[in-house]
Amino acid sequence: PETLEITRTRVTKTSSETNLIVKAIQKNDFLSRLDDEQTAMMVDLLAVFNFKPGEDVIKEGSEGDSMYIVASGELVVTQAGRDLRTLTTGDVFGELAILYNCKRTATVKAKTKVRLWSMERQTYRTIITNKSKKKREQL
Ligand code: CMP
Repeated sequence: PETLEITRTRVTKTSSETNLIVKAIQKNDFLSRLDDEQTAMMVDLLAVFNFKPGEDVIKEGSEGDSMYIVASGELVVTQAGRDLRTLTTGDVFGELAILYNCKRTATVKAKTKVRLWSMERQTYRTIITNKSKKKREQL
């Protein structure tokens, strides 16, 4: 298999972290379309980021290039200053700008110390493209 240039973001995951991430992928409308191989690649390639209470992870109206899975902590989703939802461990966010190539639809702010798994649009595309290329080669 060809070497992916994105391996520099690889972070080793423990088995409980892997379980958390796989569950998060499976319960998300968008990510649950990934097959087992793509899910395994995603788990492998997710990078980790930490945020402090009060920090914005995503700003409504900005360009988006990453999606996130909450490893721990709590965040609040707001739109035009109105609270929409609280996010916690196992929730996925920031996927809409990646999926629909739109601006960020809401602000997501850390309420507590937050640890996130993150994947860039390009890495996600590589996972999807790599798979469809393999499928074509099998035809
Ligand atoms: P995105 O638009 O990329 O960035 C903001 C994120 O907030 C968005 O992806 C969703 O993951 C999340 N989001 C937007 N609207 C809602 C909502 N009504 N309820 C919960 N989460 C939302």
